[in-house]
Amino acid sequence: MKPAFYVTTPIYYVNDVPHIGHAYTTLAADVLARYKRLKGFDVFFLTGTDEHGQKVEKAATAAGETPLELADRVMKRFQSLWEKLEISHTDFIRTTQERHKKGVSVLFERVMEKGDIYLGEYEDWYCTPCETFWTETQLIDYKCPDCNRPTEKLKEESYFFRMSKYQDQLLAHIEANPDFIQPKSRRNEIISFVKEGLRDLSVSRTTFQWGIPVPGNDKHVVYVWFDALTNYITALGYPEEGGDFGKYWPCDVHLIGKDILRFHTVYWPTFLMAAGLPIPKKVFAHGWWTVEGQKMSKSLQNVVEPNMLVDKYGVDAVRYFLLREVPFGLDGDFSHQALIHRINSDLANDLGNLLNRSTAMLGKYFGGVLQAPGEETELDKTYREKTVAMIGQVDNFIEDMAFSRALQAIWEVISAGNKYIDETAPWTLAKDPEQRERLSTVMYYMLESQRVVYTLLSAFMPKTAQKGLCCLGWPEEASAEGLAWGGLKPGTTIAKAEALFPRIEEKAE
Ligand code: MSP
Repeated sequence: MKPAFYVTTPIYYVNDVPHIGHAYTTLAADVLARYKRLKGFDVFFLTGTDEHGQKVEKAATAAGETPLELADRVMKRFQSLWEKLEISHTDFIRTTQERHKKGVSVLFERVMEKGDIYLGEYEDWYCTPCETFWTETQLIDYKCPDCNRPTEKLKEESYFFRMSKYQDQLLAHIEANPDFIQPKSRRNEIISFVKEGLRDLSVSRTTFQWGIPVPGNDKHVVYVWFDALTNYITALGYPEEGGDFGKYWPCDVHLIGKDILRFHTVYWPTFLMAAGLPIPKKVFAHGWWTVEGQKMSKSLQNVVEPNMLVDKYGVDAVRYFLLREVPFGLDGDFSHQALIHRINSDLANDLGNLLNRSTAMLGKYFGGVLQAPGEETELDKTYREKTVAMIGQVDNFIEDMAFSRALQAIWEVISAGNKYIDETAPWTLAKDPEQRERLSTVMYYMLESQRVVYTLLSAFMPKTAQKGLCCLGWPEEASAEGLAWGGLKPGTTIAKAEALFPRIEEKAE
């Protein structure tokens, strides 16, 4: 039986249309899911939309729609973007689906039965855009410390989750599991936060209607974060604990942005502890994208629309750029100029050119028929060993979510390929009939190394990888068996490859 692997993205709010920030988390999850599938895992990859809460209710009112009409419309935008970006998710959950609502009610009820949810009264400062209550001391000039927008004082009857009870258990868990929160700097942040003391958490609202009713008291709706976080198990069939839940839970990794780390590493694990359920193995928080040096915002009209990027530059260029340009975990800046530079230099020059020149040479010297390699020289050995070493390096980097370093390791082998051609100078060997065997070896090494490269690239750039493998006479889908030296069979016919990535000459906007 294949080992199970479960990866999730956050579920996206439907009051906003998708931008590169959303695409980023989903793309990273897709690379991980594709890579794990390649390595023989049975992968469950979940994404979806977060459709309840005051924010969505307000946006719907402003648009003259019901919240569900708004959700139906915006959810389709996310789904069509994922299709366009070749996202290979297993399931798409919406928090308005019955399967989800049922699971949330059961989880809430179970924690309540245990005595860890109780009815009380709440009075504090509330930030509507963040759906978060703050104490007066946390406010900065009476504004939300997270988004700097005005807060309002609210008093309401509320159900509370006894989060304080789980402080020590949570801290012990974080300390005993160094990989649970990543990257490390974020882990330290959360440790300090927990050590400052956890307060009980308000987990219901009475000031609006758009949500899941609290079981047994429909004056209240369940707090949107209690509702949303539960998607990670309702998609697996919870409250049924067999089936997918039994197979995939606890989750291998929740990929999220740094802004929602506390919800995932403090609230979510303590809810699960109270319910007696296992805790996710890892939560990884990536950084934020700015655009040409500025924060992305509707008012600045600088929101980068992924559909437009794909139409202009192609899906794989966008996938490559977002994961290559910035180390996952750090903040980064998007600019058209940087994207065009990556396309021209990494994709057209390094990657495309190597395939183009090597297949053209095979055509010219051997009529496109791959010959068996002869004796291996030191130069060949170094190149082969570098290619094989890359397989392990990429594996380690992906394990650490270091996607840009994984791509860097792959590009080192691509550069080594271009250098290998310059050093072996096949055009000189071709002039000497005595060097036919040597020329065969050089051709084989050049093409075989690229076959391994494209197999790994299938996680990052599925279409390009498929084209590359097909050009190299490798008709099968990329698979783990392909991650070993010597896969290409002598006698295979390899046609000259077309340019995979034409250079972009236009000036950056
Ligand atoms: N609905 C909640 C998540 C609930 S998960 C149980 C939410 N939704 S969101 O649509 O506002 O954001 C979803 C993700 O997009 C977050 O991980 C957030 O970090 C990410 N990004 C939003 N803007 C971003 C950038 N500018 N850059 C990178 N990622 C950003 O939060």
